[in-house]
Amino acid sequence: MTPLSKITSSPGFQMAIKKILTYPDPVLRQKVETVTRFDDSLRQLADDLIETMYAAPGVGLAANQVGECLRLVVIDTAAGNDEKKPLVLVNPEILEKEGCRIEEEGCLSVVDLTANVERCNKILVRAQDLEGNTLEFQAEEYFARVIQHELDHLNGTLFIDHLSALKRSLYKKRLKKILRQQEKG
Ligand code: NI
Repeated sequence: MTPLSKITSSPGFQMAIKKILTYPDPVLRQKVETVTRFDDSLRQLADDLIETMYAAPGVGLAANQVGECLRLVVIDTAAGNDEKKPLVLVNPEILEKEGCRIEEEGCLSVVDLTANVERCNKILVRAQDLEGNTLEFQAEEYFARVIQHELDHLNGTLFIDHLSALKRSLYKKRLKKILRQQEKG
């Protein structure tokens, strides 16, 4: 998910930072595997995701957005403050949901679009950390929204799937135009 205050057209970020796949890349829809090995390669992937998220800049990133089809997401819990507080969630799931709220969202995998999406306002989350320990915590409001957005990614769902068919088709048309312009330029 993109920070609402910092939505920009993405500059070319490479180096150790991973390339973020964008809609309509079919990999974003593929099935994602449960993490069973808590090893160095998982830690490396989590580090790369954190680096990629901050470079974008984003406030959350799912592993399958960089083509790694594992149940792993990273989230920036600093909520707009300058200090970085990344949270790694392995095999996350939502146990309970409460209330709902409509707010604007954007996504690093959906270029040039923000839209209002309804999410639960309070959730109970269970996940594992990079050592395989179980975490259980409550999240509310903006933090809950980011978690629901990232968990959607692990199920192959993008925030545009929550929009009306009309809005989605308008976006697809606009995206085609953007992609055509990029080809020319
Ligand atoms: Ni996203």
